Amino acid sequence: MPPTSQPELVTTVAELRAALGSVRRGGKTIALIPTMGDLHEGHLSLVRAAKQECDYTVVSIYVNPSQFGRGEDLDKYPRTLRTDLDALAECGVELVLAPGDDEVYRPQHATWVEVGAVGEPLEGRHRPDHFRGVATIVLKLLNMVGPDVAYFGQKDYQQALVIRQMVEDLDVPVELRICPTVREPDGLAMSSRNAYLSPEARQRSLALHRSLELAEQLIAAGQCSAQSILDRMQQELLTAADDARIDYLALADPDTLEPVHEIRGPVVALLAVHIENTRLIDNRILQMTKHK
Ligand code: PAF
Repeated sequence: MPPTSQPELVTTVAELRAALGSVRRGGKTIALIPTMGDLHEGHLSLVRAAKQECDYTVVSIYVNPSQFGRGEDLDKYPRTLRTDLDALAECGVELVLAPGDDEVYRPQHATWVEVGAVGEPLEGRHRPDHFRGVATIVLKLLNMVGPDVAYFGQKDYQQALVIRQMVEDLDVPVELRICPTVREPDGLAMSSRNAYLSPEARQRSLALHRSLELAEQLIAAGQCSAQSILDRMQQELLTAADDARIDYLALADPDTLEPVHEIRGPVVALLAVHIENTRLIDNRILQMTKHK
């Protein structure tokens, strides 16, 4: 295999703009994949989608403190810049933006992006200010880079809706791509937080995926009562993972996240569950199959 060249690494907005000036003048389309690093296949699938569609790919790596609540894992969140750069070199990424906290949140920083109803339930209820932090950093990264297209994973379903709302409301000139969740062969959704799980807890965490599959089977079999489906999902979860602490388990409208009571069309099933000391989230869009 030919040696892969490392992406250009910049840490300041000034360096970033200098690097992107000639790219833009050359008429190239620019992709942005915002990440917090500790890259896995889920991130790399976004990078590959970007490489297919755009001429020049920027990945940002920044563990954004403002989206972590008190008592969350900001301090222990893995920081693995060297290995991340190697993985991105393999994918042919042109530029990595890895700013420090001082570059992103200057001492006088005072502006925050508040997203309305779509950010309120589910994650919004359990992680107050989380989406305010996400929306603010994503808007800042979009403003720094000015990409034509930005890529996010469906794994963070509500985050994707929050970002879509923000981009529409604030007329941000970017196209969004929401790419499918990448799973381990046994179904566990890829996440940096999976590394916190002990081997036994890792096994129990398959309960999340299984309960989403169960919901899919029930809906395909014609079950229309959301409450019955949620009860069965909860039972499945607690049977497979007796220590599971459920933050939420929901069937919701895929666009608004309003709760659905009667299944009449597509719904999204979403869940957030603590296994051992790790909080995991997952989701699946469920379609009714048409009965002939
Ligand atoms: O999904 C993530 O990793 C983060 O929330 C994001 C979008 C990079 C913002 O910090």
